[in-house]
Amino acid sequence: MSMLTLLTRGNPTLAQRSETVEDILNPEFQTFLDDLIQSGEDNMGVGIAAPQVGKNLRAFILAPKPSKRYPNAPEMPPMPIINPEILGTFGPIEKDWEGCLSVPGFRGKVPRSHGLHVRFLDRTGASHTMSLEGFVARVFQHELDHLDGILYPERMDKEDRLLDLDEFFAETGVRVPR
Ligand code: NI
Repeated sequence: MSMLTLLTRGNPTLAQRSETVEDILNPEFQTFLDDLIQSGEDNMGVGIAAPQVGKNLRAFILAPKPSKRYPNAPEMPPMPIINPEILGTFGPIEKDWEGCLSVPGFRGKVPRSHGLHVRFLDRTGASHTMSLEGFVARVFQHELDHLDGILYPERMDKEDRLLDLDEFFAETGVRVPR
């Protein structure tokens, strides 16, 4: 296992459109997925995308889990999502708080679709279609944005401001670590 370095906002790699993964079973890519899972866990992320550690590949880990950063997250085993697509959306647009390992020290309210129909490949290369709702659908949209070079502050409505963690605590009563 190797330690991956997290890139932060302003790094040009985070603003690029990532490339389709062609050879999923390549051992180097498989090791990279393990390292990405580990990196998400080490940093208490509920998801982490390949560009956040400097690789412009269309892959992310969906890993909702309650932690000090996300006390109300549901728990799911970490799932590698490769070459994802959103096939359709359902339900209302909902605004809720997001944070990002690449935007440390801040939270912001982001409008996202409540529900998604998605298609992706797993780490064996098998294709899945699935419906996701609520928090997990939100994380999926956030991570897929990373693959298109978009960070959540760019998705926020004009009237909403990015809050630092002290302001976030004042507004929500929730104290989260960086
Ligand atoms: Ni993020």
